[in-house]
Order: sequence, then C-alpha cells, then structure tokens
Amino acid sequence: MHFLHVVGARPNFMKAAPVLRAIQSRPYARQSLIHTGQHYDANMSDVFFRQLRIPVPDVNLGIGSGSHAKQTADIMIGLEEVIIDRKPDVVLVYGDVNSTAAAALVCAKLNIKVAHVEAGLRSMDRTMPEEINRIVTDHLADILFTPSVDGDQNLAKEGVESNKVHRVGNVMIDSLVELLPAARAIPRNGLPGRYALVTLHRPSNVDDTSRLCEIIQTLADVSSDLPVVFPVHPRTRQKLASIDANLSLLQILDPLPYIEFVALEERAAVVITDSGGIQEETTYLGVPCLTMRENTERPITVDLGTNTLVGTDGTALRREVDRILAGHGKKGKIPPLWDGHTGERIAECLCGPSIAGPYRQERHP
Ligand code: UD1
Repeated sequence: MHFLHVVGARPNFMKAAPVLRAIQSRPYARQSLIHTGQHYDANMSDVFFRQLRIPVPDVNLGIGSGSHAKQTADIMIGLEEVIIDRKPDVVLVYGDVNSTAAAALVCAKLNIKVAHVEAGLRSMDRTMPEEINRIVTDHLADILFTPSVDGDQNLAKEGVESNKVHRVGNVMIDSLVELLPAARAIPRNGLPGRYALVTLHRPSNVDDTSRLCEIIQTLADVSSDLPVVFPVHPRTRQKLASIDANLSLLQILDPLPYIEFVALEERAAVVITDSGGIQEETTYLGVPCLTMRENTERPITVDLGTNTLVGTDGTALRREVDRILAGHGKKGKIPPLWDGHTGERIAECLCGPSIAGPYRQERHP
C-alpha cells in the first residue's frame, strides 16, 4: 500500500515524523513525502527535518507565501500533478494549515482516500483561518485520527460517521517524548534562572498594529518581574518592523530549532503563547501556559492540563503571571493517550485489517 504524506508548515513536521517512522516498519507499506514549501526558511523547515529525522521530501513544491486563496490554489495545482503521477492509496494530511486543506480538496476530487491526523479540533471561531481548514479537511477525510474525546464529540455533532473516526491520541507528543532527553542535555547558556517564554504569530494578535503594540507593552510590564524570552515568528517580525515598538526590555530571538525550543519551554516559569501546539506541549511538560486568545480548539489543555485562556486583555495576563510567580500555577494532568505511541496506533489502524485488508485482497487476492 502506498501512503503519501503532505506537509508544508512548521507545526506539521513534528506530527508527521512519528507516523512516517511507524509506517516504515510495516510490511506492504510504501511511503512518499511531499513538502508544499508553505514554510521555506531554513529555521522554519530544514532544521526540523534534521532534528526530527524526517527523510528528504520526494518532492518540494516550493509554493512559498501568498494570500490564502493564492497559497491554497498554488498548492492544489502543484499537488494534483504529483498525486496523479504517484497514485497513492491513502494521503495523510496533518493539523490545520493551508497545505492540509488544499491537499484534502485535491484528493477528494481525485477520489483518493484522505487520512486526517489531528481531526475533530474546533475553536468554534470561524474568523480563524485554521478553523476553516479544520472543517473542510474533516468533512473531506475518509479516515479521521483524533487526539482526544472532544474531537470525537465535535465530529459526531457535525454528522461525521463514527466508523471513520479513530481516537489515537496526540501525535505531537510522540516527538516531544522522543526528543525530550536531547532537549534536557542542552546547556542553559546564560538563560535567566526564571523567565517567561513568549511566542505569538496569530493574525488576530499580530496583524493589527494597535493590538500588537498593546501586547508588547504588556510584555514589557511583565519583564519588570520576570525576564521575557521571545523567539519571533517571521510573520510577527515583519509586523514588528513596521511599528514603533520598544523591544529593548525583551530578549528577542530568531525562531528556534525544535530541540532548543523544547528546552526553553520545559525550563520556563510560564509560557505565554497564541500557538495551538504549545498549549499541548506545556500541558505534557507540566509548565503553566497562558494563551492569549479568547478560545481554543484544544479545550482539554484547559480542562485537564496547565493552560489558561487569558484572552486579549493585558490585565488578565498580568494577574495570571502574578499567580504563577506566587506558586499558584495550574499543575494539570497529562490527557489519556498522550503517551508517545500515537504514531504506532495510526500505523496499526492504516496497515491493519480494517483499512489495508480490502486493499491487499484487491491486489493480492
Ligand atoms: C502558518 C499556519 C498557522 C500555523 C503557523 C505556524 C495557515 C493558514 N497558517 O501561519 O496555522 O500556526 O504557520 O508557524 O496555514 N514566512 C517567512 N518564512 C517562512 C514562512 C513564512 O518569512 O518560512 C513569512 C512570510 O512573510 C509569510 C508569513 O511569514 O507571508 C506568514 O506565513 P504563512 O505560511 O502564510 O502563515 P503563518 O503565519 O506562518
């Protein structure tokens, strides 16, 4: 059976790596890897391939940046040719980025089976481009791998047949479990004893100038109690360059490789973020996380984990930072099936009798 994986943006890479490896060890399985090129800087892509031991992609479409319509359309055009040429049995897509939805659309029109890894998440906020990508992908997918029970519930509410849905756990945690020892071996190299780690890249936080200025001011306030370490995403860096913000109180860094970032995350007193995956990683690591959003598609990190939504209000953020500094941060628990073996469960499902069986019979009767 031929499995073709489509990845494109930074958060896809740590999700695909464990699945690629788990399928690799299965008999009858052949794999191709296509990189759409949605993310292209070495520190947003290549370094993740190296650290996560992902094979060099068979094809890189080199699509790059653009408006949502242009980027999605370019990915579709490039991918259609590759899929027609390679004729995979199943295409695996990951997460909620434009590459994910574009690939699902191409495959649905070519009648190729799509498996969505990280299905069922919903923020219920359709102003987020990722929410549109999640809905489109889930409704086109034939096989849906959910990380937690809320994913199954969302899909059931939207009428997705339950026999397509497989709760396998959180595949991003597989990469975290695997590379945590390497992260722990990284020297502290002049890091402050206690610090807040910040990541911000959501259009809702960084694309609006006055919102971004307010956030920077709040972070500068926080830095009077706790040093702020801020690896800056390219989208955010571009926006910061166009406004008159005083960044001198913050420790600004370039985007970090995966292992170096996990090391910073695990040692932080608090993580302040608007990322999805970081809400999950901090829950696994038991580090308090303050999410600068009004909603999350990962509610289990709030209900069970260490995550608190602080919205867009700087006062709430300050209050929560003070609580954490006073030793009252959320302790949290690791959700079920976030155990480092999700990739294997996905491979078992794809290569086992229910999905691969009928293919094998068709080809080797
Ligand atoms: C994308 C995903 C988002 C994910 C994020 C992780 C969508 C809709 N958004 O957002 O869900 O959380 O990736 O990083 O798919 N740029 C570079 N170098 C790069 C990549 C991007 O400089 O390697 C700059 C470009 O100016 C680009 C901007 O960053 O215009 C935004 O990139 P894009 O891929 O459109 O969206 P992200 O904000 O990265």
